[in-house]
Amino acid sequence: MSTRAHEVYDVVGIGFGPSNLSLAISLDEHRENVPAHPATAVFFERQPAFGWHRNMLLPSATMQISFLKDLATFRNPVSRFGYVSYLHESGRLARFVNNMDFFPTRLEFHQYLEWAAAGFTDRVHYGHDVTSVRLAPDGADGRPGHLVVEARDTTTGAVRQVLTRNVAISTGLVPRMPDGMERDERVWHSSEFLAKYRRMNPRDLTSVAVVGAGQSAAEITRFLYDSLPHAQVSAIFPSYGYSIADDTPFANQIFDPAAVDDYYYGTDQARESFWRYHKNTNYSVVDADVIRDLYRRSYAEDVDGTQRLHFLNMTRVREVKRAGDETRVLLDTLLDGHTQELDVDAIVFATGYDSMEPSRLLGELDRYCLRDAAGRHRVERDNRLLAPELPFGIYIQGGTEHTHGLSSALLSNIAVRSGEIADSVLATRPAREPAARREHAAAAR
Ligand code: FDA
Ligand code: NAP
Repeated sequence: MSTRAHEVYDVVGIGFGPSNLSLAISLDEHRENVPAHPATAVFFERQPAFGWHRNMLLPSATMQISFLKDLATFRNPVSRFGYVSYLHESGRLARFVNNMDFFPTRLEFHQYLEWAAAGFTDRVHYGHDVTSVRLAPDGADGRPGHLVVEARDTTTGAVRQVLTRNVAISTGLVPRMPDGMERDERVWHSSEFLAKYRRMNPRDLTSVAVVGAGQSAAEITRFLYDSLPHAQVSAIFPSYGYSIADDTPFANQIFDPAAVDDYYYGTDQARESFWRYHKNTNYSVVDADVIRDLYRRSYAEDVDGTQRLHFLNMTRVREVKRAGDETRVLLDTLLDGHTQELDVDAIVFATGYDSMEPSRLLGELDRYCLRDAAGRHRVERDNRLLAPELPFGIYIQGGTEHTHGLSSALLSNIAVRSGEIADSVLATRPAREPAARREHAAAAR
C-alpha cells in the first residue's frame, strides 16, 4: 500500500494488534464517517503480517474471554466484523453453537483476527517499525502544525514519514525478565516460546524448566510435558501451588465497560480496592482446567511409579549460568532456605510483562504530557494523554491500568474503547465544507 506524502491523516495507528484493528473498524463504522468526508487513517505494524502473540499459540490453549468480547460486538452488535459474522462466513456457525463453548481456542480466535485484519490491508504498512513521533514545523499561527510519524521498513531499512493530527499508540505489553537474567538460545521468555522451541531438536531437550505461576507458565509446562515424553520437566514457582483465575460472574463485572467509569471517576481508595480484591482475575493466576490438567498428569505419575514432572514450589531463580549448550540454574528455596542447582537444556521465563509505556516513542513530545504524583501519565477518559499545550491527540491503548482499570491491557473492552477514541478523533477534526457548497463556490468564482 502507499501513503500520500502531503496528506495530513486524521489518525496514524502505531501497532496493528487487536486494539488498533478494533479502532480501524470503529472508524469505518462511525456515523460521522460519511463518504463526503471520510476519516483518513493509516497503521504501521512491525511484524511482516498480522499476528497476535503467535509464540503462545499452543494447541490446546483457550481464550480467557467470551467470543462475544470480540473486536466490535459490544460497541456495534450488528458489525460485519463480529465473531458471529466470522463463523457464518467460515461455514462453522452451526457447529460452533453445537459445541456450546463460550471460550474458543486461541488458534480459532487468531484466525478470526486475521480474517478481520484482511479487511484493512489498504490501510496497514506491515514490516514497518515506528521509531518516533514528533512535532512538525510550526503552522501559520505559530503553533505546532501537526505530528510527524517516522517508520522504518524492517526489510529494506527505508524510512517513511507521514503527517497526522492524532496518533493511537497501541504497541502492546513488554516482556519482563527477572533482574540479571539474559535471554539467549537456551534462555527464553514465554513471549518467544514457540519460535525458540521450534529451533531446537526435541531430542536435545531432555531436561527443561519453566519459571512462574501464571497462565503462560502453566500452559507451557503442560505443552512441554506432552510434547517431550522423554524429558524431565521442572516447574519453578514462588507460591505454594498454582492459584485459580477468578472468572466467576460478580468478579467478572470488573471487565464490563461500566467498570471503566467506576474506576476512572472513583476515589483513590476505590481504585486501590479494585486491585486488592480483584488482581486474582488476571495476574499470577491460572485457569482451573489447566491446573486440573497438570495435577492429573502428576497424579498419574504417582500411580505409574514414574516421575518426570517436578513442581519446585516456593522457589525463585537466583542465577542462570551459561556455557555453550550447558545451562545451570541456581534456585533459592523458601521452604528450607537452601540453594539448589538444576541443569537444564532450556529454561523458559514465564515471568510476565510490563505494561505499555509510550515515552520512548514520544521522545521530546513526552515533556508536553502531564504526569501524576507517582510519575505516571495523566490520561483523559477518552484515552488521550493529557497534554493541554498540544493541539492534537496522543491516544494510548494499554498502559492505562492506573487510570482506566484492570481491562486496560486486555481484550475485554477494546470494542467500546476504540469506539470512544473514534468519537474523540472525529469530533475534533477540522470542519470541511460540504461538497455541494464547495462546488457552488467554485462555480461562482
Ligand atoms: P498487541 O501486543 O496484541 O499488539 C501490539 C502490536 O504492536 C504488535 O503486533 C506489535 O508487533 C506492534 N508494535 C509494537 N511496537 C511497534 C512499533 N514501534 N512499530 C510498529 N508496530 C509495533 N487478553 C484477553 O482479554 N483475553 C485473552 O484471552 C488474552 N490472551 C492472551 C494470551 C497471551 C499469551 C498474552 C501474552 C496476552 C493475552 N491477553 C489476553 C492480553 C493481551 O494484552 C491482549 O490480548 C491483546 O494482545 C492486546 O492487544 P493490543 O493490540 O493492545 O496489543
Ligand atoms: P503473570 O500472570 O504476570 O505471571 C508471571 C508469573 O511469574 C507470576 O507467577 C510471578 O510470580 C512469576 N515470577 C515473576 N518473577 C519471578 C521470579 N524471579 N522467579 C519466579 N517466579 C517469578 O504473566 P503471564 O502468565 O504471562 O500472563 C500475562 C497475561 O497474559 C495475563 O493477562 C494472562 O491472562 C494472559 N495469558 C493468557 C493466555 C490465554 O489466553 N490462554 C495464555 C497466557 C497468558 P509473582 O506472583 O510473585 O509475581
